[in-house]
Amino acid sequence: MQIGVPAEILAGETRVAATPETVKKFASLGYKLVVQSGAGVKASYFDQAYAEAGATIAATAADTLKDADLVLKIAAPTAEEVPLFKKGAVVLATFAPHQNNNLEAYAAQGLTCVAMELIPRITRAQSSDILSSQANLAGYKAVLLAANEYSGMFPMMMTAAGTIKPARTVVMGVGVAGLQAIATAKRLGSVVEATDLRPVAKEQVESLGGKWLDVPMSDEEKAKALGTGGYAWQPSPEYIRDQAVIVDKAVSQASVVITTAQIPGRKAPVLVKAETVAKMKPGSVIVDMAAATGGNVEGTVADQIVTTANGVKIVGITNIPALVATEASALYARNMVNFLQPQHDKDTQSVKLKRDDEMVKPTLIVDGGAVLYVRK
Ligand code: NAI
Repeated sequence: MQIGVPAEILAGETRVAATPETVKKFASLGYKLVVQSGAGVKASYFDQAYAEAGATIAATAADTLKDADLVLKIAAPTAEEVPLFKKGAVVLATFAPHQNNNLEAYAAQGLTCVAMELIPRITRAQSSDILSSQANLAGYKAVLLAANEYSGMFPMMMTAAGTIKPARTVVMGVGVAGLQAIATAKRLGSVVEATDLRPVAKEQVESLGGKWLDVPMSDEEKAKALGTGGYAWQPSPEYIRDQAVIVDKAVSQASVVITTAQIPGRKAPVLVKAETVAKMKPGSVIVDMAAATGGNVEGTVADQIVTTANGVKIVGITNIPALVATEASALYARNMVNFLQPQHDKDTQSVKLKRDDEMVKPTLIVDGGAVLYVRK
């Protein structure tokens, strides 16, 4: 069975879906690998390393895809890319099916599309979870972006010329990215406060040395928060009102704010109002990690750094994992290997998707010539 790894064509996408390490792994299982020339260059993986790992290097996307039964990608194929795929190929990528207008085109090409971001959050699937692997690295990089844009310092410093106070960082949303942001900001010496809809996050924040910003919850809300299997619940108007007051106070006194609150498949909640940003000190920085889904902050512009009238920078970079492309690619590529390994058929040395497997079924958005994904 032939695996194709084309170069990503989306602007700003520097990652690659296979690395020399994973090519070697697939080759050892009996696959033939074809990697497009230059596919890994922006992530610091060069053609020679792929060739040494056992891949054939193809000059163009067309050459990479024409005989590929299985295609590994980061971004979903564009309308222009679709005709290059072999009819009936299995494609693994991040498809963003809720906002992808090419699902019908994939079906018409006979593709089987596996949306890696829909792998369920079950224990068995953790090693294939691209959302976690990428969010973890992005949480780290978001703090470095903030530190770069911030006109002050993160750590407390006692100098002969006087003492510098530590930066005060607020993290909104304490999932995978938020936890890594807290840990990174702490390591740089900042004082950190954090909040989340999920009360279980309190202990995690405190274990990292952060202060929990507590929003009062009714017993009914607590029960709801515990019953959502780790995902955000739909907050009540009372909760939203109380949260807004607490956020306003904490954020207006912060010099660094990292927002990560997302709701899978939907627009992100607005948690920081423009009037709160207007109260922040000049030189402060907000990194809005939800910029790709509308943003958590009023004033965020996707893929721009906006400076407000009072001198606050709002960073809206939508693809932060692409800024740490070497490691982000390494983890994404390993997630793909881990996902495919249970689908590998030793006798035929090929991938035979077990379509009823609880890890596979939710990811199949296009299969058998039909769009299976249902928009909510
Ligand atoms: P996410 O990227 O969907 O959201 C980030 C955080 O924002 C979440 O903690 C969420 O509760 C919070 N949030 C959303 N709306 C909010 C609002 N209005 N106000 C305040 N906070 C808000 O989350 P992520 O990082 O993907 O993780 C979601 C959950 O899944 C977490 O509980 C995580 O521990 C769990 N998880 C479980 C895994 C497994 O069992 N395999 C793997 C990865 C995560």
